[in-house]
Amino acid sequence: MCGIVGIVGKEPVAGQIVEALRRLEYRGYDSAGVATLENGRLDRRRAEGKLRNLEVKLSQAPLSGIVGIGHTRWATHGKPNETNAHPHATDRLAVVHNGIIENFRELKAALEAKGIRFETETDTEVVAQLVTYEMRQGRPPIEAVAVTLPRLRGAFALGFLFAGEDDLMIGARHGAPLAIGYGDGETYLGSDALALAPFTDEIAYLEDGDWAILRHRSVDIRDERGQPVQRPRHKILSGSFLADKGNYRHFMAKEIHEQPEVVGRTLAHYVNFASGRVELPFELPFDFKDLKRVSISACGTAYLAGLVSKYWFERLARVPVEIDVASEFRYREAPMEPGGLALFVSQSGETADTLASLRYAGAEGQHTVSVVNVPTSTMARESAVIAPTLAGVEVGVASTKAFTCQLTVLLCLAIAAGRARGTLTAEEEKTLVDALIGVPGLMSEAMKREHQIEILAREISKAKDVLYLGRGTSYPLALEGALKLKEISYIHAEGYAAGELKHGPIALIDETMPVIVIAPHDGVFEKTVSNMQEVAARGGRIVLITDEKGALETGLETMATIVMPSAHPVVAPIVHSVPIQLLAYHTAVFMGKDVDQPRNLAKSVTVE
Ligand code: F6R
Repeated sequence: MCGIVGIVGKEPVAGQIVEALRRLEYRGYDSAGVATLENGRLDRRRAEGKLRNLEVKLSQAPLSGIVGIGHTRWATHGKPNETNAHPHATDRLAVVHNGIIENFRELKAALEAKGIRFETETDTEVVAQLVTYEMRQGRPPIEAVAVTLPRLRGAFALGFLFAGEDDLMIGARHGAPLAIGYGDGETYLGSDALALAPFTDEIAYLEDGDWAILRHRSVDIRDERGQPVQRPRHKILSGSFLADKGNYRHFMAKEIHEQPEVVGRTLAHYVNFASGRVELPFELPFDFKDLKRVSISACGTAYLAGLVSKYWFERLARVPVEIDVASEFRYREAPMEPGGLALFVSQSGETADTLASLRYAGAEGQHTVSVVNVPTSTMARESAVIAPTLAGVEVGVASTKAFTCQLTVLLCLAIAAGRARGTLTAEEEKTLVDALIGVPGLMSEAMKREHQIEILAREISKAKDVLYLGRGTSYPLALEGALKLKEISYIHAEGYAAGELKHGPIALIDETMPVIVIAPHDGVFEKTVSNMQEVAARGGRIVLITDEKGALETGLETMATIVMPSAHPVVAPIVHSVPIQLLAYHTAVFMGKDVDQPRNLAKSVTVE
């Protein structure tokens, strides 16, 4: 994970590097550091914790070099303290690294056997020491990097500066993203286009195995065999990357409230409002009616969006769906009949496990379609088809608006599949599309329950454990509710299929544990109510999230009932996402937690 930035600049660059790191903090924020070169002399500042700690250090002891690299860390090897913070340095060089060097132990042992001493617990220091060792053997910096890169295993991106070399920076990409920026007498390196947006609108993405030699006036890109290559330059719209909190206290609050707008925007991209039909904004290289199976892989919240869509594809298009978390899928050697559809869901488009699954499926002859939010991401570039979500930049680490936009796109795909396979009539399609068109309005209506949810959050904040239950498409929502609550409030929470309760978890029920039941009035409503009765009979405290009809029919005493506006059952999961997000948000805020940057997490997970 981690974010990398580098600038071969004309003026002191430390400030610009910090600015870029702020835009990369979504990739990790355990520690941060900057190294610059001034008249050939390397110097660095590093600080544990958030970027502001580094800023304090830089204000006390500024760096004035005009060539520099910076890093914001999500710790993999070694504690997130200052010693382990990047850049790592020797007397010859400084290096920043994103990813994991899998064979670092054997490389380290070999170097230690040569008498080299290590100062940190990180895998990155091995890279610094290996290149330094090669330089001590008399190799110039470029050659030293060239002979080192093939010895490194794993998925990583690297950025190097060298003592005495004021016009040189080297970047390398092997599995983790790295972009090159072109400026006026300046060149840049960054983990993504977002980092570079304030400096330049012209970037090129390195491909796997590429490494690049950056100087003030030139960038020389080589492939893994060391051959010079050209990579296409893209124009980026820097304005589209700008994100601020507006009048909200947290990005997460802003992003929750933006949902009616961004779901509407996404919908407008996929639906013809006039004809009431789904019109996909891309060509598909296959026909839905020929599909025998759809395979879905994703991680975390994106996986849960995929899980909701399994119900939709199977019910509306009668096509079997297989779904896995990507970290399992990529290694389970699933046999795949060529010509199948493999769907990937990802906000960032960079998640290492999802990307590896995409590559696996491509090699197995699948048609790869990725539902992604970042159109310049690696997944977007490597998929046969991109199905974009138009959520806009999502800054809060806990995914909210990207999730509901993913649901929107996946439902449109399921409807298109149903039409092509003849399992949905034109009339049924119109009913579903009308229901979808109503979703943004229903989400706005759902936001009106915020005050009630805020008061309830005070009660939830006292709990040690919370259980979420749901059936059908509310089951993945129960999982999502639990995930959202635990990741930002650190309260232990579990999601279960309501019918699974009596197979074990019911043993946990007592009067101290809130049980949050998501139960819109749909085809399985009565079954869920029976499971609620079982909870009530054991003294459990129920919070019921339902709709107007559901609230009328339960006849059960609850700790709270949150009444959502009535929605067509197929679109209900999109509307019911709102209260579970708000409940997690207000609980965490009430507890004084860092909602936008919860501990131990990062927005983009580029390590497996
Ligand atoms: C939770 C959350 C994560 C991400 C997961 C996948 O709120 O945001 O679980 O959903 O890390 O990330 P993407 O969607 O970028 O592939």
